[in-house]
Amino acid sequence: MSLIRIIIGSTRPQRFGPQVANWLNEIARERAGVHQGKDQVTFEILDLAEVNLPLFDEPIPPGMNQYQNDHTKAWSKTVAETDGFLIVAPEYNNSINAALKNALDYVFYEWHYKPVAFASYGSAAGGSRAVAHLRDVAGEMRMFDLREVVVISNYWNQLDGEGTFTPTEDQTTAATAMIDQLIFWTNEMKDSRERLAAGTGSQAVA
Ligand SMILES: Cc1cc2nc3c(=O)[nH]c(=O)nc-3n(C[C@H](O)[C@H](O)[C@H](O)COP(=O)(O)O)c2cc1C
Repeated sequence: MSLIRIIIGSTRPQRFGPQVANWLNEIARERAGVHQGKDQVTFEILDLAEVNLPLFDEPIPPGMNQYQNDHTKAWSKTVAETDGFLIVAPEYNNSINAALKNALDYVFYEWHYKPVAFASYGSAAGGSRAVAHLRDVAGEMRMFDLREVVVISNYWNQLDGEGTFTPTEDQTTAATAMIDQLIFWTNEMKDSRERLAAGTGSQAVA
C-alpha cells in the first residue's frame, strides 16, 4: 500500500488552495478504489498551514542529513513516509509561493525518487509559471515530475456567491488523468526505491 499526499502549498488566511485540494482528494479517493491489489494507494491531504514550519533554520544543509530541530525531524518523517505527492500550487509574482519553497527546501533525501504532480491556479496563466519553477526544483531533488497537470485560470470566475468552486468537465478530466498517472508511478517507483535500498539497483544510482 502506497501513500500519496496532496500538499496544500498556500498558507495565508482565506486562501483558495484547500478548495482545490478537497476537489482533487474526492477524485483521488474514487480512482484509488479502481486501483486494487498491488496498485492500492491511499491519499491524504497535507496542509502546510498546519505543519507550520518556521523559515528554514537548520544550521547544517539538508544534504548533510543532520537535523537539529524537532520540527525538521517531524517534517522529515512526514516526507519520508510519503510515496508520491500532488502539490496544489498558487502563483505568487510569477513563481512559487514562499511557504511551499521553504517546505521543499527543509529536507532533501526524503523527496528522492518519488513522483510529483501539480495542480495550479491563478489569473490568466493559471499558476503555470509557478509549476515551471517547481519542475526545476523537483529535478534537483531527484523527484520525477509528471507531464499531466491541472491548470485553473482566473479561478474566481468559477466561484458561486458563497465562494464555492465548481470545476469544469475539462478540469475534472485532466485531474483524473493526472491522478491515474500518479497512482501508477507512485507504485512503480516504490518498487524502484526498494531495489535501491536492497542494493539490487544499479550502482550508478545507488
Ligand atoms: C503575493 C501574491 C502574489 C501574486 N502573484 C500572482 C502572480 O504572479 N500570478 C497570478 O496568476 N496570480 C498572482 N496572485 C494572485 C493569486 O493567484 C490569488 O491571490 C490566489 O488566490 C493565491 O492563492 P491562495 O489563495 O491559495 O493563497 C498573487 C497573490 C499574492 C498574494
